[in-house]
Amino acid sequence: MDTIPDVPLKPEPPEVLDAFYRMFREFFDRGERKRRWSLETDIPWDRCNRSLNPAIADVVQTFCAVELYLPDYLGKLIGQVRANRGRAWLLATWGYEESKHSMALEDWLLKSGMRSDEQVADMHAEVFSHEWHLPYDNARGMLIYTVFQELATRIHYVRLADAVRREGGCPALEKVLSLIAIDEAAHADFFRRLAAVYLEYDREGTLEQMRRVVNTFRMPAVHMLTDGMQRAKQVQELNVFSEEIFMQEVYEPVVARLGVAKSELRRKARREISTPSPGA
Ligand SMILES: [Fe+2]
Ligand SMILES: [Fe+2]
Repeated sequence: MDTIPDVPLKPEPPEVLDAFYRMFREFFDRGERKRRWSLETDIPWDRCNRSLNPAIADVVQTFCAVELYLPDYLGKLIGQVRANRGRAWLLATWGYEESKHSMALEDWLLKSGMRSDEQVADMHAEVFSHEWHLPYDNARGMLIYTVFQELATRIHYVRLADAVRREGGCPALEKVLSLIAIDEAAHADFFRRLAAVYLEYDREGTLEQMRRVVNTFRMPAVHMLTDGMQRAKQVQELNVFSEEIFMQEVYEPVVARLGVAKSELRRKARREISTPSPGA
């Protein structure tokens, strides 16, 4: 875990905590109106393409496994923000939405015949044999991490849906992926708006966390799976994600939307940090 911030973080003043809760309520109310979907009725389960390229099912299983770490994500993140109602309630809502993602992907693996009940049980056992740990030791760093991770996740689902269409299509899986991608886009957008508030009231502290995240970013959990390397390779082979896609479709747009110059994200030279300049 990356620890000990070089720049101390200013705690959220009461007006920022109030603003977060108001922002959360707007996010929640809008989600209730426009974005709720049903695993039972919104997916054409009778239209699974049972002869889809098995490589697609492998990647679906990888994404399902990453979503299955939800108890670790939620359990550890919520403790960091328990006195911040906007962020804590957001995590509760986020957790509900994320829980549907793993269920939808798992249902597709079973209903398409791509995986048996036994294989799915093995996947669960494997996921919970390793515990996910927070990559950053403070709630601000984790928020910044989540901004990049949620947008990256959205791109993974959108590009996987493109791959499904290239491979002959599957109406059920395409619908699952499109519903999940819409949720992930809403998450990325909302976490980014929270990050903008932090940048406004504590630019230096927040930039330091951003520097740390952009220099060490990696997607959660894939590397923890037994065959993680192989799974990451399959994602690249289907052209679903790569370092280049991260830079162009995640890093550049997030940094631009937050109004942060790339020069602000360069790590300061060690000397600059540790040696006071003469006369300082
Ligand atoms: Fe998700
Ligand atoms: Fe998400």
